[in-house]
Amino acid sequence: MKILAIESSCDETAAAIIEDRTKVLSNVINTQIDLHKQYGGVVPEIASRLHIENISAVVEKAIEDSGVSKDDIDAIAVTYGPGLVGALLVGVSYAKAFAYALNKPLIGVHHIKGHISANYIENPDLKPPFICLVASGGHSHIVNVKGYNDYEALAKTRDDAAGEAFDKVSRVLGFGYPGGPAIQKAAESGDPLAIHFPRVNMGSGSFDFSFSGVKTSVLNYIHNAEQKGESINKFDVAASFQEAVVDVLADHLINCAKSVGVSKIALAGGVAANVPLRNRVEQKASDEGMNFYFPRLSLCTDNAAMIGCAAFAEYEAGNISDLSLNAVPNLAL
Ligand code: KG4
Ligand code: ZN
Repeated sequence: MKILAIESSCDETAAAIIEDRTKVLSNVINTQIDLHKQYGGVVPEIASRLHIENISAVVEKAIEDSGVSKDDIDAIAVTYGPGLVGALLVGVSYAKAFAYALNKPLIGVHHIKGHISANYIENPDLKPPFICLVASGGHSHIVNVKGYNDYEALAKTRDDAAGEAFDKVSRVLGFGYPGGPAIQKAAESGDPLAIHFPRVNMGSGSFDFSFSGVKTSVLNYIHNAEQKGESINKFDVAASFQEAVVDVLADHLINCAKSVGVSKIALAGGVAANVPLRNRVEQKASDEGMNFYFPRLSLCTDNAAMIGCAAFAEYEAGNISDLSLNAVPNLAL
């Protein structure tokens, strides 16, 4: 079975052809990052307009690269939430028109289920149950993946997402957008133990996150130094901030998995591309005798291959959408 998948929830226009859940026949990503960079973050109106301009070419290229003809496509999958409403609408409208024209089933896919499913593409032997940390620009969840289409959110962020904190701190330090890779690079030249930024623990058995405190603490540190006329070492700030976030993400993931007695853990989402985070989780997992899975970097950030993979589980569960499918910006898991 071959699925054409489309993703346009944020600042990547992407299309892919996936065969039998994990085989990627093509995976085309058109990123808008360079255009949003000059504004320090994603501008929703610009994102929507660029998706409209690029989507046809991206889908045509995905079909061409796969060597599959349009008639051989068995279903069309598309991200319908969560994400930016105008951006999502472009993919959803395009997928609906495509499914209608080819008379093929349409499958609406949850973006977070897509991120988690990237792990199956990377590790076709991985089977549920496992515990997955999903950390991206908009989400920080710990999810119990009980089955291919059975998800239970065990923890979430109470305020900012981890990626959002990386982006904000990077902006104030002048390292630019997207913040994650910029902070990671800057941190290589800094001391992670130079400054102690707070690690928030909710206590009472909760593994929820809160990143607004660490973000504010970094801002206060910078402002205090400015007011006193002191200079700061930006690289130390980047490294110490990253250390605080990595500490919390890794600890909560491992402790949450231990609390439910699951010994397979995985990472997903843009922040899962963070190398110190991967290394830390790998070390802790090995200390605890847990098996650890993570997608390659290009499958961590937004792409359509992961959406196609997640669509198989929806299809197996009989979740076919009709042409009334709409974008749902705050779609729950
Ligand atoms: O999953 P994604 O591509 O889009 C959303 O669904 O949000 O994630 C983008 C987020 C951004 O906040 C970006 O700064 C962060 O992932 N990110 C990273 C790294 N690469 C991307 N964060 C930390 N370290 C990285 N290497
Ligand atoms: Zn994403």
